[in-house]
Amino acid sequence: MSTDHVAPEARTPLVELDGVSKYYGNIRALEDVSLVVNAGEISCVLGDNGAGKSTLIKIIAGLHRHDAGSFSIEGEEAKLANPREALDRGIATVYQNLAVVPLMPVWRNFFLGSEPTKGKGPFKRLDVDLMRRTTREELLRMGIDLRDVDQPVGTLSGGERQCVAIARAVYFGAKVLVLDEPTAALGVKQSGVVLKYVAAARDAGLGVVLITHNPHHAYLVGDRFVLLKRGAMFGSHTRDEISLDELTRQMAGGNELDDLRHELERAPVPTHLGGHGAGGVEK
Ligand SMILES: Nc1ncnc2c1ncn2[C@@H]1O[C@H](COP(=O)(O)OP(=O)(O)OP(=O)(O)O)[C@@H](O)[C@H]1O
Ligand SMILES: [Mg+2]
Repeated sequence: MSTDHVAPEARTPLVELDGVSKYYGNIRALEDVSLVVNAGEISCVLGDNGAGKSTLIKIIAGLHRHDAGSFSIEGEEAKLANPREALDRGIATVYQNLAVVPLMPVWRNFFLGSEPTKGKGPFKRLDVDLMRRTTREELLRMGIDLRDVDQPVGTLSGGERQCVAIARAVYFGAKVLVLDEPTAALGVKQSGVVLKYVAAARDAGLGVVLITHNPHHAYLVGDRFVLLKRGAMFGSHTRDEISLDELTRQMAGGNELDDLRHELERAPVPTHLGGHGAGGVEK
């Protein structure tokens, strides 16, 4: 393969993890995991329940410190003391359980913690009009046409809430957007909508970390794929190195799935559960 003209690997990643490990007491949550996040790219982290996906992003988000390996932001070793520092370095994280105040209007939630004010001294107050207008404009820019930015966040669908969180991160100037299973609780259509905004964030030049256990969702938008199993990395591929079929096969556990199929086939259905020999419905 020729790499003579452009060497994309030569640019400094926004975020890079190299051989990172994390232990909770005796529990190995992550071991020797590496991940590259570039501007304008989506890096997907795939894995089953308990694989270490949330642990990985908690390190990037400044919530946990890693025990081994290196974590750098724009080429500099990162020593984040807390999530606020991560945010100051341009890393915005949307957690698995979205932190929203359900009764707050959408615009209020959009500006939560960064409210603009107007007036001075005793006349200083929240600039509500600006917040309303900006929220509407920013959501529209992402293609989200909310009926009413005054409606409580709790009345939005799960997909809309994810989209608002993404639009918020883009507006406040995030360089890296970290999303923990944004499509996990969503149906097919809403997942599609959320993935569109994930792609929009990428097109706006952000580096995105997309956590999912769905290889189809990952492959729709992903540039890089890191596969985790019980804390260890069992695959790391760029898009041109792996097909959707292969990604799906690896995520399904490949050979493990064949073993499971055999086990399930072998087990005969007991007669009292409706297997052969159950003579109709008992009354
Ligand atoms: N604070 C903690 N203390 C102790 N063990 C933890 C803690 N957080 C996570 N673990 C353990 O670390 C492992 C990885 O957990 P993690 O939440 O990162 O998995 P995950 O891939 O996000 O799973 P899921 O798909 O269910 O969200 C699990 O075995 C989990 O029980
Ligand atoms: Mg998780």
